[in-house]
Amino acid sequence: EDAEKGGYQHFMMKEINEQPKAIRETLQRRIGKDGKIKLDGISLTREDLEKFDKISIVACGTAYHAGLVGKYAIEKMARMPVEVDVASEFRYRDPFVDEKTLFIAISQSGETLDTLMSLREAKSKGARVLSVVNVVGSSVARESDDVFYTWAGPEIAVASTKAYTTQLVCMYLLALYMGDLRGTITEDYYKQVLKELKATPKKVQRILDKAEDIEELAKNLYNRDQIFFIGRGIDSAVAYECSLKLKEVSYINSFAIAAGELKHGTIALMEPETIVIALATQDFLMEKMYSNIEEIRARRAHVIAVTKEGSQISKIKSLEVIRIPKCMDEVSPILTIVPMQLFAYYVARERGENIDKPRNLAKSVTVE
Ligand code: G6P
Repeated sequence: EDAEKGGYQHFMMKEINEQPKAIRETLQRRIGKDGKIKLDGISLTREDLEKFDKISIVACGTAYHAGLVGKYAIEKMARMPVEVDVASEFRYRDPFVDEKTLFIAISQSGETLDTLMSLREAKSKGARVLSVVNVVGSSVARESDDVFYTWAGPEIAVASTKAYTTQLVCMYLLALYMGDLRGTITEDYYKQVLKELKATPKKVQRILDKAEDIEELAKNLYNRDQIFFIGRGIDSAVAYECSLKLKEVSYINSFAIAAGELKHGTIALMEPETIVIALATQDFLMEKMYSNIEEIRARRAHVIAVTKEGSQISKIKSLEVIRIPKCMDEVSPILTIVPMQLFAYYVARERGENIDKPRNLAKSVTVE
């Protein structure tokens, strides 16, 4: 097993570090010589898209969080309505799905029972099924009309890292492809987002190269009882994944909420010992995040912001900041999650937890 860890102490750290390579692979498989996205083998034509009146994304755990980001991307780029459900809810709520639905299942293993059963339910109602899967030939892949593989390579650690970032890349590629077909984005925008995606492996590497900063932060915070994550827009979707990563490996009670919802309850919990990690990467929402951060700091809680280099928030005096490289707002989740994966890892390591196999959790949940 040690040999398979390639010199790392844990698979989780190995897989975090494999992300630049995995993302590059995902992109290379889907971008043709002409610089355009190719769906080889997947039939998604303009006529197909015209037949669908909505997209329904279903998944569990981390894959569900990738689905939340997918909704932002598809709605923005392809201008189609998207619903996202956790599979265990979808399958029991008599979902409104028919032959006009494009059903997208996201699953690393392709064996998660709830996701598989949801897929069958959607299929039986006539939906077209496209899946975003990592394990080639898995049940979800076999039962789908089309498969968009993530090509992340085997993921061993229970806490998902490279599967998530490659799922994000797939969702962006799908969103862009659909937007292009439907004429809801310009040629320039298409090229710009693709260029940004191609730049992510290097940017992720830059974050990894500064892992010691995150290790330091983890050493200061590892013995906390609870940590909050907040964000707006696409950052709120990432906040859920940050929180899940932290709690599954460190057992710290972490909680994520859309920053605008704080005032409807959660702000009541803010007191001097509280730690809040504020994801603030969206330029167009910066003013709003700024106010949220100030509201929390006014209760003397401690805020750590994750933001782009040079952002207005990174200049606030005495605010602890984790910087990610500059990027287009749309693709920031691929970067934002990386320091938070490292944070979860280092916190768990400081606490002496069994990082690759957290208690009570399984890599793939094939039972109800
Ligand atoms: C388990 C794993 C998670 C994963 C979820 C969904 O809970 O521990 O890491 O996100 O299942 O798995 P899937 O294979 O369908 O993506």
